[in-house]
Amino acid sequence: MLKNITPHVTNVSEQTRASVFQQKPLTVWLTGLSAAGKSTLAYGLEQALIDAGKACYVLDGDNLRHGLNADLGFTAEDRAENIRRVAQVAHLMNKAGLIVITALISPLAKDRAIAKHIIGESYFAEVFVNSGVDVCELRDPKGLYKKARAGAIDNFTGISAPYEVPFSADLVIDTGNQPLNLSQQELLAFVLKRIV
Ligand code: ADX
Repeated sequence: MLKNITPHVTNVSEQTRASVFQQKPLTVWLTGLSAAGKSTLAYGLEQALIDAGKACYVLDGDNLRHGLNADLGFTAEDRAENIRRVAQVAHLMNKAGLIVITALISPLAKDRAIAKHIIGESYFAEVFVNSGVDVCELRDPKGLYKKARAGAIDNFTGISAPYEVPFSADLVIDTGNQPLNLSQQELLAFVLKRIV
């Protein structure tokens, strides 16, 4: 317990929120390399859930690095703090009854484990957006792999910084080998089962 800090308790139960929103809260934690398709899948899922009348929101790494995480870079320490903050926000949004979709590289298993701990196991679904570095580098929509190869970006995931493949993801989506619409269908079907 923190000194001189008194927690307050809401009168609104989790069940009441679930019945108001007609959904169980969940954080869909998308992890994978840059250009694997995390943001595309995240915003596609958000649209599909909104169309189905669900209350949800995407927390995208690139976007959050313009505001909440504008002070952070790409060292291992900064990435850990990035992931910790996003997990805390996702936890609050789940407490509010919302479905959260995160799109962060989140390259290290230990940081993803911390996120799971903050959010709570039953609210957390780890989804590995699986596209190998060769495919991501060929796509290179932002030209970042090219810059990283040229030595213009330090600590670039997959080139000069590690990505640890999740060994027990709740879902693996093979975005490197299959068309986007199939990946989107797989993700939506998985999530719809978890939010009833
Ligand atoms: S994370 O590792 O801390 O989870 P996050 O998802 O927030 O990363 O940000 C990744 C995005 O930042 C990439 O999609 C890319 O556009 C950009 N970026 C800039 N520098 C790097 C870098 N060194 N490594 C990876 N991504 C980078």
